[in-house]
Parts: sequence; structure tokens; C-alpha cells
Amino acid sequence: MSRAEQAFRERFGAGPEGVWAAPGRVNVIGEHTDYNDGFVLPIALPHTARAAVARRTDGRVAFASLQGDGAVVELSVDELAPGTPDGWAGYPAGVVDGLKSRLAGGVSILLDSDVPVGAGLSSSAALTCAVALALADLVAPDLSRADLVELARRSENEFVGAPTGILDQSASLLCTAGNALFLDTRDRGAEQVPLDLAGAGLELLVVDTGTPHTHADGGYGDRRRECEQAAERLGVPALRDVPDAAALASLDDVLLRRARHVVTENARVLQVVDVLRAGGDPREIGPVLTAGHVSLRDDFEISTPELDTCVEAVLAAGAHGARMVGGGFGGSAIVLVDADRLDAVTTVVVDRFAAEGYAAPRTFPAVPSAGARRLS
Ligand code: GLA
Repeated sequence: MSRAEQAFRERFGAGPEGVWAAPGRVNVIGEHTDYNDGFVLPIALPHTARAAVARRTDGRVAFASLQGDGAVVELSVDELAPGTPDGWAGYPAGVVDGLKSRLAGGVSILLDSDVPVGAGLSSSAALTCAVALALADLVAPDLSRADLVELARRSENEFVGAPTGILDQSASLLCTAGNALFLDTRDRGAEQVPLDLAGAGLELLVVDTGTPHTHADGGYGDRRRECEQAAERLGVPALRDVPDAAALASLDDVLLRRARHVVTENARVLQVVDVLRAGGDPREIGPVLTAGHVSLRDDFEISTPELDTCVEAVLAAGAHGARMVGGGFGGSAIVLVDADRLDAVTTVVVDRFAAEGYAAPRTFPAVPSAGARRLS
């Protein structure tokens, strides 16, 4: 019996109807392009959130988490509203709210997760996507995975109030093992692109700097607004529609740099996809990743000293490329490195962080893993 199932029995007195899992993600390339109708290329992590779920008949919803303080958050289905409940329970609650016409009897949900929180690895999307898949299996089998992406996104945007795009939810629900997901966020066209790092003697190291992206909400929303403003000034529906950086000349300094990040980042996604589709050496994507970091640091201005130090240190130690990932203002970096240099490069980062007086980073190799699935 899984830990989630056992804990569910202890909290709720009977077993769940099933247990579902959904992964966190790292984005290989394509950062802050999703809300600009652009391209992304994430992989799912082996780390997952698990949801043990059972329907009820008393019209109440109950949420428990093995990562929380142990308290069960319980309310009636009718009381669900944006912001109620708040905190971690808001994520599963938003998904229940989105399907509440089919859940009049209520539902009990116990969550367990090993996706690092605050690391820019989509711990929140892992929660909402595990719950979305569970509820779809139980009460909404007519919903497609694409519908579940929308359900999970709405939970974060409208119920929790985090203005994210659809990168994280798409990665968690649509990724497959061994592949990166090339997604056009405008028409939602998706392609599984093989990413055989091990076969090429490579590792994709994740370095969690341990600096939680506490300012992410404010800063993220600011960047989103700046991108929308830039598109409006240029007279295009979204920055996706700008053909190249030369077309940005009419913008002033800040909007020019924000827009230039998005335009060049979309081109970098296409460049990486071209290399991988052609079966080329994945080492070739290293410099593209590093260029993405420079753009996020200088044009989008969402990096941190810890992330910059990490990228600089690993490149000096022989990594093929590195960049910060996720929403920014903290969180993690990815490093493309020869498998036989993994330990040496990891040691370089750990030593450099110690020398700078930064907290010790958490590191682990990312393997392109499976998307959301039913476990039992
Ligand atoms: C966060 C958001 C995503 C995406 C990334 C940046 O992870 O949740 O929608 O915008 O930042 O690429």
C-alpha cells in the first residue's frame, strides 16, 4: 500500500477509490513565452505529487497533505470560492470547484508530494494536475487531457490567483517518458521530441538554489503586463507575432528588452527542436540554453546572484550550457553536462556557493519522465 493510500485510510477511516500521480517539470527552453502565445519545450521530472481520492455523500470537501501541518481542511462544496480555502488547499480546491456540478456529494483528497516547493519546478501544477486527472477518472471521463490542462490552469489563475500561463500544467499532463514536449501555446499543437541524454553520454543536472521565488507573484505579473504593453504598442495580438528582434526598434528601453527576450526565446525553442528532431548531438543545444540565461538575466531581468553564480561556475567547469528555469526571482537552474563530469561539476557549484556564503544548493539529475497517470 502506498504512503498516500495508507495516510488516506488513517485520516478518513476508509480507503480511497484510487491514487493518481502528476509530475513536476523543468523547461529545457522557452521561458516566459507561454503567456505570449509562444513555444515551450519542457520535460516531466521523476518527482510527483500523488492524490488519494474518494467521493463522499455528505456534500463536504476535505483536503489533507502529508507536507502540511497534518490538519484536515474541510468545508461544504457550496462554500468553495476563489480564496476559500486559501494556502496549499486552494490548489486542489480550485480543481474541485471547476467540477463541482459533478461533485455535489463532495470528495476527500489526500496529497503527498516529493516535488521541491518554491524551486521553480512546478510543485503547484503537480498538485492540481494529479487532482484533475483523479476527478476526471472518477466523474468526468469525457474530458480530454487538453481539457484538464485548462481545468488545472483555471484553478491556479482564478481560484488561487496566480497569473500563470499553461506551461506547467501542459508539461505535467502531456509529457511522456524519454521525450521533451514541444508545445505551441497558441494552437496547443504538441509534439513529443525524443531527448535521449543518457544515450549521448549526457546529464541534465538540476541545481535548486534554495532561494524560494518569494517575489515571483509581483514580478511575474509585472513582466506579463510589460509583454502585453509591448504587443499593444507594436499592434500585434501577442509577441509571438513579432518576426524578429529588428521589428522591435520602436519600443523604449524596458519594453524593448522584455519583448526582445520573448522574440529571441521563441527562436531558441525552434533552434533546439531542430537539433533534436534531426537526431543531432544534444551537446549542440548547450550554447542555446546559455544564451537563454543571458536573455533572462539582462533583458527580462528575473535572475538572481545565486542563479548567475551557478551558471557562471558550471560553464567554467566545462558544462555545455546552463540556464535558470521557471518563473524567476529564485528557484533552480539546469546544467547540460557530460555524464562523466557530473560529479566534478556538482562539486564546483557546491564549493562555489559555500565560498559565496550562499545556502547549500540541492542537486539532482533530471530524466525525461512520464506525465500524469493513475497509480492504483
Ligand atoms: C511559471 C509559470 C509558467 C511560465 C513560467 C515561465 O512557471 O507558471 O506558466 O510562464 O513561469 O516560463
